[in-house]
Amino acid sequence: MREELINSAKKVLDNNFQEGGFTIPSKGLYPFQWKWDSGFIALGYAHYNVHRAKREIKTLLDAQWENGFIPHIIFHNDSDTYFPGPDFHKSHLHPKASKKFRSTGMTQPPVTGFVLQRLLEIIGDDFMPFIQSHIDQVYQNHVYFYENRDIKDEGLVYIYHNWESGTDNSPMWDDIWATMNSPEYEFERRDTTHVDPAQRPSKREYDHYLHIIEIAKKHNYDDTRISEHSPFLVLDPLFNAMLIKSNEALIHLYGLLGDNQDKIAYLQAKQKLGIQSFNRKLFNKKLGVYVHYDLKADEQIAYVSSSSFSPLFAGIPDSARAESMVQTMLEKFGGEGKYLCASFDPTHERFNPQKYWRGPIWINMNWMIHHGLKRYGYKELANRIKRDSLELIENNGFYEYFDARKSNAKAQKSGYGGNNFSWSAALLIDFLNDGD
Ligand code: SER
Repeated sequence: MREELINSAKKVLDNNFQEGGFTIPSKGLYPFQWKWDSGFIALGYAHYNVHRAKREIKTLLDAQWENGFIPHIIFHNDSDTYFPGPDFHKSHLHPKASKKFRSTGMTQPPVTGFVLQRLLEIIGDDFMPFIQSHIDQVYQNHVYFYENRDIKDEGLVYIYHNWESGTDNSPMWDDIWATMNSPEYEFERRDTTHVDPAQRPSKREYDHYLHIIEIAKKHNYDDTRISEHSPFLVLDPLFNAMLIKSNEALIHLYGLLGDNQDKIAYLQAKQKLGIQSFNRKLFNKKLGVYVHYDLKADEQIAYVSSSSFSPLFAGIPDSARAESMVQTMLEKFGGEGKYLCASFDPTHERFNPQKYWRGPIWINMNWMIHHGLKRYGYKELANRIKRDSLELIENNGFYEYFDARKSNAKAQKSGYGGNNFSWSAALLIDFLNDGD
């Protein structure tokens, strides 16, 4: 069974691989290269096609801007199956945008640092020359964040768009949408031609998404002006936990390479400050977990989501806080008849078990939470999350997201969104090869 699953996963990746040396997340629905997808996808390839794992990272880094920024989508090719495409985003408005590749003018969670470290664990020392020749680009990406997105000099960086969070339509953002008076745009959605609209964001949500991009374009994607004018400015625990985890990885890898003391010192200083601020500003005692922070309203966005548990992966909480996170996870997410770990609080009225980031389970989040729980010694719970992930894929296929309810009598299947989804396949391969 294990071999069969791994072979099916490889087929998904191989079918999504493109001539240009990158892998699309899912045919039709996502026909380009996405930043955080690429990182997870490389982890799958590393177990059977090292050359492709390297190419995946290289094609992503090739699209880096002169200021260190790495965009969230790279439009290597044309496609009429996706909206909004390159003509809408107009990344060239930024003077330092890549001259070679069209892209968006927003980014996604910075996974590349910790991905390099995991690739080294999987591939071994043969991977060191690749790290040597590419690590500085990842470092420059972190410098970009700290120098442009840390407006309070506290080691935490903002996102200015919900698509930068990765958790696109989380109920978390609903309160921000309510403060925005976005125009009613006319446009042709493409995502809802591939996937049941009940599983995708609403038209009104897309109005807000487009409105923020229009504001950013008006300011030529200038970070300072965006931070002044964007109605959406958030400290996201997932995004910042990924940055801190990737910092840790870069410090480790620079240590292996030798020299680079200045870079190590820079990252260590940001790391210390970032972890302190993270614990001061993003922990919510009442909920017992980390939450988002709205920089415009200057207050926490007090909802529990799978992002609330991601700080475990980056070693941010002390053991008492880790324990309260685990309790919250078990109470709200892990009760009888539930798979772990829903993307939004299943006890909350805004929870929707089928709708994208408003409730379904995502394999990349489970992968991170699994490793986070292991880091803190919660081996049994870590194994449960891994088992749940494998069972969901085995029962439903390599879907984009899954229903957290074990008994879902009304549905024919409990896998939703895009099928043959690359990171679900890639991370299954890594799960089945991680030595546990
Ligand atoms: N995931 C987004 C979409 O649904 C873009 O990053 O199109």
